[in-house]
Amino acid sequence: MNITIFGTGYVGLVTGACLADVGHHVMCVDVDKAKIENLKNGIIPIFEPGLEPIVQANFEAGRLKFTTDAKEGVEFGQLQFIAVGTPPDEDGSADLKYVLMVARSIGEHMNDYKVIIDKSTVPVGTGDRVKKAVQEVLQSRNSDLRFDVVSNPEFLKEGDAVGDFMKPDRIVIGADSDEPIELIREAYEPFNRSHDRIISMDIRSAELTKYAANAMLATKISFMNEVANLAERLGADIENVRRGIGSDPRIGYHFIYPGCGYGGSCFPKDVQALVMTADSVGYDSELLKAVESVNYRQKSKLFEKVSKYFDGDLKGKTFAVWGLSFKPNTDDMREASSRVLMELLWEAGAKVKAYDPEAMKETQRIYADQDSLDLCGTKEQCLRGADALLICTEWKEFRSPDFEVMKNSLTRPAVFDGRNLYDPERMARKGFDYYAMGRGLSV
Ligand code: UGA
Repeated sequence: MNITIFGTGYVGLVTGACLADVGHHVMCVDVDKAKIENLKNGIIPIFEPGLEPIVQANFEAGRLKFTTDAKEGVEFGQLQFIAVGTPPDEDGSADLKYVLMVARSIGEHMNDYKVIIDKSTVPVGTGDRVKKAVQEVLQSRNSDLRFDVVSNPEFLKEGDAVGDFMKPDRIVIGADSDEPIELIREAYEPFNRSHDRIISMDIRSAELTKYAANAMLATKISFMNEVANLAERLGADIENVRRGIGSDPRIGYHFIYPGCGYGGSCFPKDVQALVMTADSVGYDSELLKAVESVNYRQKSKLFEKVSKYFDGDLKGKTFAVWGLSFKPNTDDMREASSRVLMELLWEAGAKVKAYDPEAMKETQRIYADQDSLDLCGTKEQCLRGADALLICTEWKEFRSPDFEVMKNSLTRPAVFDGRNLYDPERMARKGFDYYAMGRGLSV
């Protein structure tokens, strides 16, 4: 099939590359000329394991094309995916400016029947707005060309996006007739062989499914963080509680890891947007507001522990921070807990030595003017001369470090672990002052 994708960000590029990899002919359109030039030269704008080789192979095979020409893109595919950004507005609701711009551009250039697919995470009701935008342009052209609008939300996790696309748990398709569903079914057929993963429904339900999935996951995390905070006050260990409750299949072991808060480009933005959507229809979403505020508080927990340990006097001290990205296997720093931590440390007059396996360049870009930040080439170098170690992200290489080196490098053997990587008793035996999240009485 011929398929067009608008937007070569994270979602668009993964979608385009994976669809081309199973034999479709895909054209990716973006307004950013430099990005398109880079992609043609095999330079990928994001760090995503496994993506680069598929982009390169399919580009070389001629199945994956890149262009800045919207007309060429619209004429190319019968399926037109919209995967452009929906940044949060000032009030936290999703800004549909780019989505509607693409919709109008499709209306302007379309020459036969098109299926227009909302892939970006968009508020409930966007399908109708896209339909209206296309219709208005077609009317101004005096055209009676047919088109359908479909919602097909993505459920990709950063760091595992290619795997999630190739082996989806579900493919949600929201449409108001059968014809577009059949065409999309055909496009996804190679990913849908072993058993049928397609769940079809109306457009509004599909749009809400996406938000509900992320809000549910964020709720699980905030719930666990709340119980972890309680465990600290009650002298219980959240890791035991986690195993205890996870064994109930109705709760499950997945996504109940306590920590120093959730980040990334999705959960914070989507929970906030759903609260706004609820408000807009006169519903006060108390639960989702609490999910947000628990997470907001959780992001400063590590700082509070460190501050208490040093009796509120952090001025002139140096802290080693391991893990800067919002989660492992990505260089994405959006809404990362490490940022809240480092900014609070700087505010308190402390210095930071930081290390991350992938996010050093991104950290450098964000904090180019920060004199109190020293970016270190290795995790060991980061420890040298620091007053304590603070861990924000559970990268694999932090799981079993050389504890002797760690102890000898730090001026005080204090470790504040935001991801519960080590065993508290073993750490105590090794001579560390070890503070984790929700594991026994806190500092
Ligand atoms: C999330 C969803 O997991 C995807 O299904 C969804 O498609 C995507 O958003 C999206 O809307 O595009 P992602 O943002 O890549 O994916 O990251 P997650 O792996 O879900 O992690 C989010 C945050 O939750 C991270 O900061 C992570 O550290 C935190 N987390 C996760 C916890 O604190 N505890 C857990 O048990 C799990």
